[in-house]
Amino acid sequence: MKKLIIANWKMYYGPIKAGAWIRAFRRERLPKELDIAVAAPFVSLAAVRSSLGRASTPAIAAQNVFWAREGAFTGEVSPDMLLEFDTTYCLVGHSERRTHLGETDKMVAKKAKALQAAGISPVICVGETAAERKRGDATKVVRGQVREAMEGLKVDGRAPFVIAYEPIWSIGTGQPCSARQAKEMHDVIHEVIFKKFKVKCGEVRVIYGGSVEPRNISEYLNTVGIDGALVGGASLDPRSFGLLCRSAAPA
Ligand code: PGA
Repeated sequence: MKKLIIANWKMYYGPIKAGAWIRAFRRERLPKELDIAVAAPFVSLAAVRSSLGRASTPAIAAQNVFWAREGAFTGEVSPDMLLEFDTTYCLVGHSERRTHLGETDKMVAKKAKALQAAGISPVICVGETAAERKRGDATKVVRGQVREAMEGLKVDGRAPFVIAYEPIWSIGTGQPCSARQAKEMHDVIHEVIFKKFKVKCGEVRVIYGGSVEPRNISEYLNTVGIDGALVGGASLDPRSFGLLCRSAAPA
């Protein structure tokens, strides 16, 4: 399976800037041996879709979703609505949502299940805080998050789920978790997935996120068990994100 790199714009770029980003990024030389996606805010999905024209790279990702198909849920967006923009992936349970919006493992599981049912690949974000790591609880916390999120999921060829391991202490801090540390947790996550689905490592992608940059991406991607990256800060400039993609898969 190809490695997957997802740009997570977070709460940056409304429709005008999103369109400009896509046009600039499309001018970059992009490696074919990677799957590349961009996770845009809801309001920018239409601009991303139309700026892409017939191009399919980057694939379109959303940053959040609600679990119901439709109804009286003011302010929410359903998986079917995301499909109207050809959305391929959707982040769920990003630590910023867990922290600021009170998203729980149960909500994450419902969102992931609804996405898969609609044919969109959920990208389930998990990761421990600095305090949890210090206490020696990192593995226990992440195992629990992965187990609960996978509750209603299938190993589905149409909308395969992805796990993004993002140690919270490394997000936006410039303090990357070493490839060796990341691999330890990726191995744990692959093992939890294997226990439930009996699929081999490599059949379900587990990607890494947290201060990934052009200068360290290849270290992660050359590590067995790390199947891609979720990139925040270093995805905001389309040219340096292009460089990051090329550094991930040198031609
Ligand atoms: P960062 O963010 O690359 O800026 O650390 C990653 C993320 O939160 O997805």
